[in-house]
Amino acid sequence: MSFSFSQRLAEWERHHAAGMLLAGATLLGAAAATYLAGGTQSAFPHLFYIPVLIGSFFFGPLGGVVVGVVAGIVCGPAMPLDTERDIPQPVSGWLVRLLFFSGVGLCAGTLNRSLHRRIAELHQLNEEVVRAFVRALDAKDHYTSRHSEKVAEYAEGIARQMNLPREVQERLRWAALLHDVGKLGVPTHILNKPGKLDPHEWEIIKRHPVESERIFAGVAQFRPLLKAIRHHHERVDGRGYPDGLTGEELCLEARILAVADAFDAMTSQRAYRAPMSEEEALAQLKAGAGAQFDPEIVAAMVTWRRSLAVPDQHAAPRIPA
Ligand SMILES: [Fe+2]
Repeated sequence: MSFSFSQRLAEWERHHAAGMLLAGATLLGAAAATYLAGGTQSAFPHLFYIPVLIGSFFFGPLGGVVVGVVAGIVCGPAMPLDTERDIPQPVSGWLVRLLFFSGVGLCAGTLNRSLHRRIAELHQLNEEVVRAFVRALDAKDHYTSRHSEKVAEYAEGIARQMNLPREVQERLRWAALLHDVGKLGVPTHILNKPGKLDPHEWEIIKRHPVESERIFAGVAQFRPLLKAIRHHHERVDGRGYPDGLTGEELCLEARILAVADAFDAMTSQRAYRAPMSEEEALAQLKAGAGAQFDPEIVAAMVTWRRSLAVPDQHAAPRIPA
């Protein structure tokens, strides 16, 4: 469940390009403002703290120091004390300012880096707690071992295949991990019943998407996931549950979860049947495209799974038609 190297590299490049542009533009702005205001005798050299803070935010302590030194030089020998009377600055004046700029860059960058590290740790803890919670649910249902984690893996695979933004991939991972938590309210004898469910039991099972939504409705961080969680058993033809929504009425995440969820259900052991092979499950998804599933998402799933398949070394070569 990790992003590909090329995706990370592209993101890193975008982030750093944005930082360099912003730091460069504010540095030029501060230099222009200081010069036009009459030189370093004005209050405008303080504007140079803006690019220094931007440098430390985007590039950490080293970036803060580098931008601080550049700001100190730009606002140093090249900048007069008084532009009107052409009075230069004393060397000690701009050297002290350079030290201040780089010192602030170093401190702000260090603080910023430790804050980022702390946020990453909290994020990881958050995810580990959710995974532990989800495993507790999977332990209740003997036939859905690691179901939520596998659905998360499939949903992220589809999203990557569809080139969806990283935020959507992230939302899908969380929604997939949490989508079946409402099954905690379903009695174990119904969840693990080996035979067919009677209508009353089926009604109880069908409540779980709404229950999952209700459980997480009070968690602000999970609010963007609620629609996907509630609608993961909807069908594009409107014959799903709980609301019977159709096609575009369903959010993209819900339509992706529906495909990922069905694929894992088909390829896993169930109380009432043996698991299907991957190819059989993909054929079932294709058969349900346009009725149960969104055809575009099914196509992405099929392409992604086939791209992962190890070619059979003993298979006869294909003869072109
Ligand atoms: Fe479900």
